[in-house]
Amino acid sequence: MASHETTTPVADLTLEEKAALVSGRDFWRTAQLEGHGLGSIMLTDGPHGLRKQVADPDRIGLEAAVPATCFPTAATLGSTWDVDLVRRVGEALGAQTRANQVSVLLGPGVNIKRSPLCGRNFEYVSEDPYLSGRIGAGLVAGIQSAGVGASLKHFAANNQETDRMRVSAEVDERTLREIYLPAFEHVVTTTQPWTVMCSYNRINGVHASRDPWLLTTVLREEWGLEGLVVSDWGAVVDAPDSVAAGLDLEMPGTAGRSAAAIVAAVRSGRLAEADLDTAATRVLALVARAQPALAEPGTADLDAHHVLAREAAAAGSVLLANTPVDGAPLLPLAPGARLAVVGELARSPRYQGAGSSQVTPTQVDDLLTALGERLGAHVPFAPGYTVDGGDADAALREDAARVASGADVVVVFLGLPAAAESEGFDRTHLDLPANQVAALEAVAAANPRVVVVLANGGVVTMPWAHHAPAILETWLGGQAAGSAIADVLLGLREPGGRLAETIPHRLVDTPSFGAFPGDPGRPGTVRYGEGVLVGYRWYDTREMDVAFPFGHGLGYTRFEFASPTATVTGAGRDVEVRVAVRVTNTGTRTGSEVVQVYVADPESQVTRPTRELKGFAKVRLEPGESREVTVTLGARDLSYWHPGLRRWVVEGGAFRIEVGASSRDLRGSVEVQVDGEPLWLPLDEDSTLGEWRVHPVGGPLVERALAAGPAVDAGLAAMIDEMPMRLLASFGIGGFDPQSLAALVAEAQAAG
Ligand code: GLC
Repeated sequence: MASHETTTPVADLTLEEKAALVSGRDFWRTAQLEGHGLGSIMLTDGPHGLRKQVADPDRIGLEAAVPATCFPTAATLGSTWDVDLVRRVGEALGAQTRANQVSVLLGPGVNIKRSPLCGRNFEYVSEDPYLSGRIGAGLVAGIQSAGVGASLKHFAANNQETDRMRVSAEVDERTLREIYLPAFEHVVTTTQPWTVMCSYNRINGVHASRDPWLLTTVLREEWGLEGLVVSDWGAVVDAPDSVAAGLDLEMPGTAGRSAAAIVAAVRSGRLAEADLDTAATRVLALVARAQPALAEPGTADLDAHHVLAREAAAAGSVLLANTPVDGAPLLPLAPGARLAVVGELARSPRYQGAGSSQVTPTQVDDLLTALGERLGAHVPFAPGYTVDGGDADAALREDAARVASGADVVVVFLGLPAAAESEGFDRTHLDLPANQVAALEAVAAANPRVVVVLANGGVVTMPWAHHAPAILETWLGGQAAGSAIADVLLGLREPGGRLAETIPHRLVDTPSFGAFPGDPGRPGTVRYGEGVLVGYRWYDTREMDVAFPFGHGLGYTRFEFASPTATVTGAGRDVEVRVAVRVTNTGTRTGSEVVQVYVADPESQVTRPTRELKGFAKVRLEPGESREVTVTLGARDLSYWHPGLRRWVVEGGAFRIEVGASSRDLRGSVEVQVDGEPLWLPLDEDSTLGEWRVHPVGGPLVERALAAGPAVDAGLAAMIDEMPMRLLASFGIGGFDPQSLAALVAEAQAAG
C-alpha cells in the first residue's frame, strides 16, 4: 500500500471516477477530476534526457520536444561503472524534469542485453544484472532526489524489439530470478522508484501487463514496491485483467474505452471493486507526491549539465586497445603530433538512439570542432565515407588516404548509422558498414598509426581491429561526446570506461544465436534456452575466446593488485564474505581502476556460470598512491535460485572469490569454505530412491527397509536410484509395496 498521503480519499470517488483515474487522460497525462480539485500530472520520456513534447499532448508522442540535455545513453553510463557519477546525472535529469513541470521521467531501462542484436541495447546498461542494478539504482536515486519520480522499465524480460508487443519470452524461473529480474529487484528494494513500467511482451504466455505473479507476487509481496505500476504505452490488452493483476495506470489514455470496460467488469462482478480502489489510491498517491515539485519547479543549469554530460561521456568511454607503435602507445596523443581526422561521424556526430528516448539537445559537440578548439589549429579532415552506408566511394577513400599520409597519427571515426539500430526493430548482423571498413583499410594502408574511435549503441564485431593499434569505444555518448572524446584523445581526461557488455568475435558465438529473436506466430515465442549463461557467463563457462571481455578497459596509467583476502563470517543465509585487496597506481598519471569481484561456486547441485560479478569499486589514485578496496558479499551474492525449492539457497562448500580488472584479467583469487544450509527436497512417493538415500532422515529409513527386504539383483541395483519410489513399490522391488511406502513416507515426513 502506498505510504504517501493522498489529498482525495478514494471513498469520495464514484465508480466511474475511479475507472477514469486508472487510465491516462491523453498521451502523457493522468486524468483530472475537477469536482475533487484533482489536477493531472505528466509522465514523459526518457532515460538519458527529457523528451517533453511541445505540441498538444493529445497527439501521438513523437512530435518535437523541448530542448533538454542529451546525456550519454545507458550503454555509456553503464560503462562508467561509477554509481556516484550516474547519480549526479540522475540529479540533473531530475532537475530538468522538475523545471519543465513533468512529474515522472520514464527511465531508466535496466533490461538485460541478452543478444547484441537488440535494437534498443543503447538504452540498457549491461549483460550483467548486478551492474545493471547498481547503475539503475544510481540513476533512480538521482532523479528522485529532485522531487520527481522515475519509471523503472521495462518490467520484465523485454530483451528484443522484434514482435515486442506480442512475443512470449519463454524463460525458466531460475533464469528469470538470476538474470532478468535482479536489476529490477535491486532498484526497487534500494530506491523505491515512484513507478515501475511493465513491458509489452508476454512472459511464459502471460502478458506482463496482466500478470499477477509479476506485478503483485514478485513486485509487491516479495520486493515491497510501494509506488505505482504503469503500463508501457499501449501494453494493456485487457484493462480489467490488468487492474486485477496489479497494474495501476494504463497509458496512454483510451478515450474512455478502458474506463467503460472497468465499470462494466466491476458491475458484472468480473473485477473486484477493491482492486480498482487499490489502483486508484496509488494514482491519487502519485499525483499527491508530485505536487510539491509542481508548486516549485525551480530551474536547471543547462550549461553545468552540458559539462556533466561531457564528464560522463569520457568516464564511459572504453579504451579497448592501445598497442604501442614504434615503442610508444598512440594515446594519449603526443603534444605537437601532426593529427588528421577521417570519418563523417567526426563532423556529423551520432550521439543517441532513435525512438521514444530521442532528445532535442541543447547543443551538440562534434569531435572535429572540439579538436580544433583544443589544438588551436586546423585539423586536416576527410569524410572517408557517407554515413548512410552507401557504396564504398573510391574518391572518398582516396581523399582519406591522402589526408592520412601527411599525419603522424590518424583518428578514424567509425560507427553505426541511425538506420542500423533503434527502438522498434532489431539488428540482423553485428558488422560496421562495409564502406566504413573500406575507408579504414585505405587509411591504414597509407598510414598504420591509426586510432579508431567508435560511436555505436550496440556491440560491433571487429575483424578490422588489426588495422587499429588503438581503439576507443564511446557507445552513444550524448550531446557532449565530441568534446569528451577530444579530451580523452588529448589526455585531458582519461578513458574511464570498462565494458558492460562482451564484444564477441562473431555473431554465431553469442549465447542466443539461433534463438533470437524467436519464432513468428500469434503470439510469437522466443526461448531463452541459454538459461543463465548470458553474456560473459556464456563465454567464460564455455571457455570461448572473445574480442574484448566483459569488464575490460585500459587507461592512461597502470595498476597493481596485491593478493586479495577473503574473511568468512556466519553461515547459510547469514554468511558474509569480506573481500579486501590493495590496489596501487604504478604509472605516471592519475587514473581510475574498477576493481571487480567475481564469485565462482564450482561444487553445486545446479550448473552455475564459471564466474559471476558480485561486487565492484571504482577507485581514483594518484601516481604511487595505493588503497585497500573492500567489498562485502552477502548470502545472496553466493546464492542461486533452487528450481525445486523455488527459493534462493546458499549451498555449502567451496567458493572461489576472484578479483580482477576484467572478467578475464583476474589478478588474484581466494578459496573459502562456506557452511551452507541443508538442501533437501521434501520426500514423498515421487522422490527417487537416490533422493531418499542421500537424505539425512530418509536415507537410514530406506536403507533399513531395503536391508529387511529381498535382495535386489545387482544389475537392477545400478538402475533403481533414478526411479521414483512409487514405481519401486508398484513393481515390488526391494520389498516395497504401496502400503509400506506410505508408512515410510509418513515416518520420514513426521521426522522432518
Ligand atoms: C515506448 C517505450 C517506452 C516509452 C513509452 C513512452 O513504446 O517502450 O520505453 O517510455 O513508449 O514513449
